[in-house]
Amino acid sequence: MKPEILRSVAGLRERVAAWRRDGLSVGMVPTMGALHAGHLALVAAAQEQNDRVIVTLFVNPAQFGPSEDLASYPRAEASDREKLATLGVDVLFAPPGSEIYPPGFDTKIVVGGPAAGLETDFRPHFFSGVATVVAKLLLAGPPDRAYFGEKDFQQLLVVKQLARDLNIPTEIVGCPTVREPDGLALSSRNAYLSTEERMRAPVLYATLQETARGLRSSGSPSAVLEAARRRIADAGFAIDYLDLRLADNLAPVGEITEIPMRLLVAARLGRTRLIDNIAV
Ligand code: PAJ
Repeated sequence: MKPEILRSVAGLRERVAAWRRDGLSVGMVPTMGALHAGHLALVAAAQEQNDRVIVTLFVNPAQFGPSEDLASYPRAEASDREKLATLGVDVLFAPPGSEIYPPGFDTKIVVGGPAAGLETDFRPHFFSGVATVVAKLLLAGPPDRAYFGEKDFQQLLVVKQLARDLNIPTEIVGCPTVREPDGLALSSRNAYLSTEERMRAPVLYATLQETARGLRSSGSPSAVLEAARRRIADAGFAIDYLDLRLADNLAPVGEITEIPMRLLVAARLGRTRLIDNIAV
């Protein structure tokens, strides 16, 4: 019966080693569960490019701050499992907390480069928590390829930097953001939105699109960015950041050039924090 459920690192390592002996390639999709079509698009990409696919499900305490939503984060292992069964995923790796962070665990990975600024200014603990758990998950395979969404664009670049710097022999593959028909990026946290907030939420992506167009045609990026912040605030969001960065490493942009850039936003609507980004 697929997916096979594995709960231990040793079990996962054994399974991957056996596949490797048979000459099979392995893809991994790390998640915190409550799976939606965005996650499932990563699974589809992994299945297209690999003989076997592992989905990991672990709500990682290390990436939540003390006042964040660790306790209320949606958990739905049974229905996640059914979704993965429908797709024919080979393994669901869903370890208990004590398997990832056993007593005495005391190592932390700190990534520089693309981790500086943006999310880090508002969630200083976040990328260290992500980098530590992603390193552990990848090393528990290691898979040939691992799949991450552009929805979390800064996270994708941080994971690429991590794999490169630590010689983790896994190719990190980025996949496009999956959206609702009205443009809202799918997210497990969208479940927190009230009906009224849900109606206002698409303003975020609509503003990113409009701003990306404005930046291409305007000589004054700071004025265009300021107008975007105003539009989002007028829709009732409290903005953490809305900024234009170099797409390769998220370094600040000096002046508008032909280099690929990325416009990234994080904003709170009521108690829900939403993030999104777009290529410029
Ligand atoms: P989670 O939020 O569950 O997301 C798992 C993966 O799905 C991430 O790579 C994320 O970018 C991707 N994803 C989420 N929404 C998406 C969307 N609308 N379209 C495309 N991809 C989307 O991100 C995490 O978990 C954690 O930080 C994790 C990497 C698992 C480490 O704990």
